Amino acid sequence: MSRPVLLDTDPGCDDAVAILVALERADLEVVGLTTVHGNAPVSETTENARSILELVDRTDVPVAKGADRPLNVPLRTSEHIHGEGGIRGEFPALTAASRPVDAHAARYIVERARAHEGELTLAAIGPLTNVALALAMEPELPDLLDELVVMGGAAFGPGNVTPLAEANFHTDPHAARRVVRDCSPALVGLDVTANAAVPPAEIESLPRDDPLGRSVHEWLTYYDDAQLEQYGIESAAIHDALVIAALVDDGVLETERYPMAVGTDSDIARGALVCDANGVTGDPPNGSVALEADYERFREIVSASIERYLERFEAEASEDPVA
Ligand code: RIB
Ligand code: CA
Repeated sequence: MSRPVLLDTDPGCDDAVAILVALERADLEVVGLTTVHGNAPVSETTENARSILELVDRTDVPVAKGADRPLNVPLRTSEHIHGEGGIRGEFPALTAASRPVDAHAARYIVERARAHEGELTLAAIGPLTNVALALAMEPELPDLLDELVVMGGAAFGPGNVTPLAEANFHTDPHAARRVVRDCSPALVGLDVTANAAVPPAEIESLPRDDPLGRSVHEWLTYYDDAQLEQYGIESAAIHDALVIAALVDDGVLETERYPMAVGTDSDIARGALVCDANGVTGDPPNGSVALEADYERFREIVSASIERYLERFEAEASEDPVA
């Protein structure tokens, strides 16, 4: 039986890989993509989500456009990392088939959670504005969900926007604070996702004679040389795809529950995830964080999905050489 998953996303190159893998897995049923500001303004992340669906012929998956700014701080986007428009790659023209549904993403999250009561996994791989708004609309949201998995925070390592804060939490710290406090999330943070990459040799072996191969190549290599050097890694971190890999294989992550909170101050504490590892607060655990990942399993899951897409596309092209 496949597990219903709703992806709240800000595509984004690593989001694109996450979406691709989630759509390809027979053990997941992607019931929608909700979009949020983040790697680019929401008008662009929404177009990017649609483009990814168009690229792989999955316009049957509904898209709901969401928040265009954080709850309490000004909008901050990351085109300098993910490319102009928030994503790299080569996409077909958008069609009416991928047009967003007539509901705000936060409303759509609540609707889907009710429709799949107790069964839905919400995988949030962008800033948490939509999730916080959904929680405000429906305080029972955590109970309606099977699980809320979040790419966010840097539990036991440095941040990528400030020394303490990871981008998704830094972008909307107030939303992150509420979601961490009230939704018992499973956090997959930067300290673990930073090494979730596909080896350069494998990336270079991707066929580049069709748009899908070329786009996937761009998504797996979106860091520039300075970023690779800064983080001491060989190929770009595909942060968000680690969340999806963990959904399909519970051996991918080692996790631990902690009392946790997120800083919202305007200075150095903004978006900082604090895990009370020594139990000094005396508070009960309110969620889990990933401590370690099995990157080999991650790579196998990602590579296998990409390979299956490429095989399918190749087979379709040889059946219809004019297309
Ligand atoms: O810090 C990594 C996260 O922020 C990912 O979700 C990525 O898409 C980025 O923008
Ligand atoms: Ca993202």
